[in-house]
Amino acid sequence: MNINNLSLTISAASSKQYPETNIPEIALAGRSNVGKSSFINTILNRKNFARTSGQPGKTQLLNFYNIDDTVHFVDVPGYGYARVSKKEREKWGKMIEDYLTQRENLRAVVSLVDIRHEPSEDDILMYEFLKFYEIPVIVVATKADKIARGKWNKHEAMIKKALQFDSTDDFVIFSSFDKTGISEAWKALEQYIYV
Ligand code: GTP
Ligand code: MG
Repeated sequence: MNINNLSLTISAASSKQYPETNIPEIALAGRSNVGKSSFINTILNRKNFARTSGQPGKTQLLNFYNIDDTVHFVDVPGYGYARVSKKEREKWGKMIEDYLTQRENLRAVVSLVDIRHEPSEDDILMYEFLKFYEIPVIVVATKADKIARGKWNKHEAMIKKALQFDSTDDFVIFSSFDKTGISEAWKALEQYIYV
């Protein structure tokens, strides 16, 4: 995909601030620090477009990134970050839930998990939630550079089993570090962007 214009349309805290467009949206979900912002940067071949940090919990608003007026990638705050208060967590939860259940532009969710580990309880809840609302999911197992290639299949099977993965969804092994899986990710995304 040849990309020319990238911009941050808005960082939204609530539905009143969502952009008034009808271009499709793909949301990125996953626990803090899993690599959501890095995923956006990597597939767009940019170093620092979506904000990344070693500091978990940095992305606190819904960031709508406009890609050539074709799609918005919506970078969602990471879940499972222990150092925020219960009240803050509830506020996040509501913001994310409102967006995922009410936004007409939403076409699919990229659900990122760490390829090294069993999906967390939150990962499983998120996947179940998306399935319940019949939102198509692309599971991206990232940080693949952190395990040997020979173990990828085993880890894929472990993740799919824990999620009770629905075979109509896509599963992509990915690494922002060595750029594994970029074309597979685009192939999965394009089903939802060009319809
Ligand atoms: P929040 O915005 O806090 O929810 O985090 P995030 O999910 O956006 O994660 P982010 O992209 O900021 O990445 C978190 C850390 O993981 C950074 O230090 C990244 O450099 C690192 N990271 C992201 N993707 C990869 C990857 O594929 N491989 C490796 N080795 N590190 C990665
Ligand atoms: Mg982020």
